[in-house]
Amino acid sequence: MPKYDLPGPRSAEYLEMSDTYEAGATSRQQQFVVDHGEGARLWDVDGNEYIDWTSGVLVANVGHCHPYHVAAIQNQVARLMNPYDFPTPERVTLAKRMVEITPPNLDACFMLTTGSEATEAAMRMAKRYTGRHEIISFYGGFHGRTGMAMAAAGKQGTKFRYGPVLTGHVQSPFAYCYRCPFDLTPDMCDFKCLRFLNTVVKTQTTGAIAAVITEPYQGGAGFIFPPEGWLSALQTWCDEHDALFILDEVQASFGRTGRMFAAEHEDLRPNFMPIGKGIGSGIPTACLMTEQRIMSIFERGEASSTTGGNPVSCAAAHAVLDIFERENLVENSAKMGAYMKGRLQELAEKSPYIGDVRGMGLVMGMEFVADKATKEPAPEIMWRVIDACATEGLCCGAVGFYGNVIRVAPPLVIDQDTAAESCDIMERVVLALE
Ligand SMILES: Cc1ncc(COP(=O)(O)O)c(C=O)c1O
Repeated sequence: MPKYDLPGPRSAEYLEMSDTYEAGATSRQQQFVVDHGEGARLWDVDGNEYIDWTSGVLVANVGHCHPYHVAAIQNQVARLMNPYDFPTPERVTLAKRMVEITPPNLDACFMLTTGSEATEAAMRMAKRYTGRHEIISFYGGFHGRTGMAMAAAGKQGTKFRYGPVLTGHVQSPFAYCYRCPFDLTPDMCDFKCLRFLNTVVKTQTTGAIAAVITEPYQGGAGFIFPPEGWLSALQTWCDEHDALFILDEVQASFGRTGRMFAAEHEDLRPNFMPIGKGIGSGIPTACLMTEQRIMSIFERGEASSTTGGNPVSCAAAHAVLDIFERENLVENSAKMGAYMKGRLQELAEKSPYIGDVRGMGLVMGMEFVADKATKEPAPEIMWRVIDACATEGLCCGAVGFYGNVIRVAPPLVIDQDTAAESCDIMERVVLALE
């Protein structure tokens, strides 16, 4: 017998209202309506409790409604919410803190509100700084849904039926090693997909490359992690081709991968690093880290954002940084991530439907297939698992180039017992599949 019969009566009422009045273009979710959250747990409007493997969409890194975070936001809301571009103590001190913790070449911080705004600003500034107009991105990549970000997307779903995208954007294969676009394996490929960039430049560009943009791991495409050394080699390629390097850490930053920033794993020095999601841990906040030498060519008034850098967002981000320091969340991400990955990889060995479990820290993907030999994507099996998990008290969701990957991304405050309990639920559900 499942623990919950979903949707519960109150959830059912709201879901019907949602179908009637909401625009209905948001992604499919489990059948309950969220009421409140605490730490790594959520409760629905019927009082059912869930362990959260989503953190929103990798947002609530310090956990839901952390009391210190809440108090800092409440305090700031009562003092000042928006003086637009006037500097505030919260904004300038946050910029200083961000410069101090990001790679040493990144000595300028521009505060924004959303991840799309940050990636868009990075590409725009790269074009303005270099005087060149072409941007290279990767198959499967996701950088947001605004104009330039959509043009940089490497997945049809992001641009489906929206007509022509901006010119000057070309894509190259990413290191999706489980499904290598060249049918090679990492031990013998010599980063063939990366070398293919030269072909892309020669065949699809005018040679006026402003920048290359990539996520350190591809989130929306299904938590695809390139092999060790791939990002460093890409950075070298950018240097050799005089292209700026944009490392989109909107999703990866703030501890997700077991390091504060994914760039740290290979000591990378991107020219632009868009940051979002976890920085505000629920309060819309983003920033673009870049270099003063790049910013020096911009004139006053060339960039702005109505709510970017507002003191509430900045107070939230300060509180997030304090919590990271006090509670060692980066270490917890690495430790809990290693435990959960081990458990899920063991499960993959027992199940004919889990083709791959991959990840770093507390960001992992479980890729569902109909057959391990053919690797045929199996989104319908995955949805049976996701729906059954909800009835057992585990909140999870789907991503993936083929829509067949469960995201495993709990808040970074998750403890050992909760992590174990959540893996037990997933194991029960997967092993019960017919
Ligand atoms: C890597 C990456 N870049 C950019 C974005 C866009 O962020 P936002 O939805 O805050 O605009 C996302 C969102 O999922 C993302 O994962």
